[in-house]
Amino acid sequence: MQQSAANTQREIQRRRTFAIISHPDAGKTTLTEKLLLYGGAIHQAGSVKARKAERHATSDWMEIEKQRGISVTSSVMQFEYDGFHINILDTPGHQDFSEDTYRTLVAADCAVMLIDAAKGVEAQTIKLFHVCRMRSIPIFTFVNKMDRAARDPFELMEEIEKVLGINACPVTWPIGTMGDFQGVYHRNSGQVEVFEGGRHGTVQAKARFVPFAGEEIESVLEESYREKLMEDIELLDVAGDNFDLEKVRAGQLTPMFFGSAMNNFGVESFLAAFLEYSVPPMPRPDVAGEDISPESPDFSGFIFKIQANMNPAHRDRIAFLRICSGKFTKGMTVKQAITGKDIKLAQPQAFMADARESVEEAWAGDIIGLFDPGIYALGDTLYTGKKVQYAGIPLFAPEHFARVSTLDSLKRKQFLKGVDQLATEGAVQTFRRADGIGEEVIVGVVGQLQFEVLQYRLKNEYGVEVRVTPLSFTAVRWVLQTPRELNRLRLPSTAMIAKDIRDRDVLLFESEWSISWALENNEGLRLGDTAERG
Ligand code: G4P
Repeated sequence: MQQSAANTQREIQRRRTFAIISHPDAGKTTLTEKLLLYGGAIHQAGSVKARKAERHATSDWMEIEKQRGISVTSSVMQFEYDGFHINILDTPGHQDFSEDTYRTLVAADCAVMLIDAAKGVEAQTIKLFHVCRMRSIPIFTFVNKMDRAARDPFELMEEIEKVLGINACPVTWPIGTMGDFQGVYHRNSGQVEVFEGGRHGTVQAKARFVPFAGEEIESVLEESYREKLMEDIELLDVAGDNFDLEKVRAGQLTPMFFGSAMNNFGVESFLAAFLEYSVPPMPRPDVAGEDISPESPDFSGFIFKIQANMNPAHRDRIAFLRICSGKFTKGMTVKQAITGKDIKLAQPQAFMADARESVEEAWAGDIIGLFDPGIYALGDTLYTGKKVQYAGIPLFAPEHFARVSTLDSLKRKQFLKGVDQLATEGAVQTFRRADGIGEEVIVGVVGQLQFEVLQYRLKNEYGVEVRVTPLSFTAVRWVLQTPRELNRLRLPSTAMIAKDIRDRDVLLFESEWSISWALENNEGLRLGDTAERG
């Protein structure tokens, strides 16, 4: 028994579960691929990319979803590196950006923030960053595409601090940022990692390190670069934040690295530093506020994503479970917190880089895929031993809204049932006007593509054809506190008072400006941009 406790502890300590957050085109796919390459999970770069290209080449997104229903391997990638067991969670970007992207972050213990060196902090990165910030998880910054002309690195640091409100501490520092990239300086070892360029890196390449203090550097770096680097380092030492591991782990300081994923440059040293500074699974609070230790002998976990199989002949789904404590073994029986029912986990799946495999055992930090005949809901807790229930997964504020109505009024019942079911699953959020006017449902989504998903699924699973009419709202806010009845608030004429699926009061707005206006003109009004999922 003691031996197995020690084994569980060892397994958990070597786990790292993280997500990469970035704006489309910053290089997430390329970086993921290089990480997998170092981890030996793939032997030649190109396979992840190819899969992505395949996906993008298909204009019919239904096909994409169909493929994913069968092959969900890109949702989680798992590999071993240097004694660590790594789980990378995929955060869908591009046109399939959705609430799932946010929800995935709830399952991560750390995040890698990837920034395009020429573009800096972009819109989608900001949104994802804030979701990570809610949980104070450690965030590591990788500034990519240094092989091209980049923005001034001091300016990038400042932008991170100003726009995201987190201090940045460069661990490496770039040399040559105008498209004349020479490499990076490692501040704690005093070594220069030399960029030899042109290595497009389809296979793993060894980095070359030269001490900055020695003579050899003169044959590697021209004088002007050496001088500039010296100046930069002095400035950083004086003006920058000191590296503080405690702050990093508390999500208050982001270590910053520079490199080029495409050229395989700076990726391996980033991975090594990341593994050293990041955290294994940490205790998670349950609804009662008690912290559940990952090393608890009892198993527990929660469902953060449910992937519907788009094949109408199979109503089954895959529920993604993040294990939070203890050990999972195939065939074990767990309790579902919300219903108190026993469930035997008979066909769990783990996600390797290039195949979906049946999993025999897994530990806190791991993600397993459970066959779901329709019994799970988002945020469900499964456990053994003493009852545990984790806090629900928040509802994130949608940014696109539409009025959805059925084309055939005789099918109204099926329509409402279908919309309700999709909302429960978390595919969309629904609202209705507080004044009860209009029979239609207002649907809100985080990514536009979800409207097509809604239309397709209502037709295929419920036999209902719907009309989707876009509305000009761009934000919903949950009313946390109000000084008077909602219909007596001073609101911009374009705002709407509505109710969410759980009958909570919300306000729909057309712009950030309208939200500020409402707050300024109604003292005591408090609004939230997330709500607890009921
Ligand atoms: P994403 O998943 O974040 O959307 O980005 P992805 O990896 O697909 O990269 C977006 C583009 O940026 C790709 O170019 C990719 O090759 C390029 N890229 C990634 N890392 C680097 C880097 O370190 N330096 C430079 N210069 N480019 C980089 P593409 O033209 O869209 O695709 P491809 O034809 O190169 O495959």
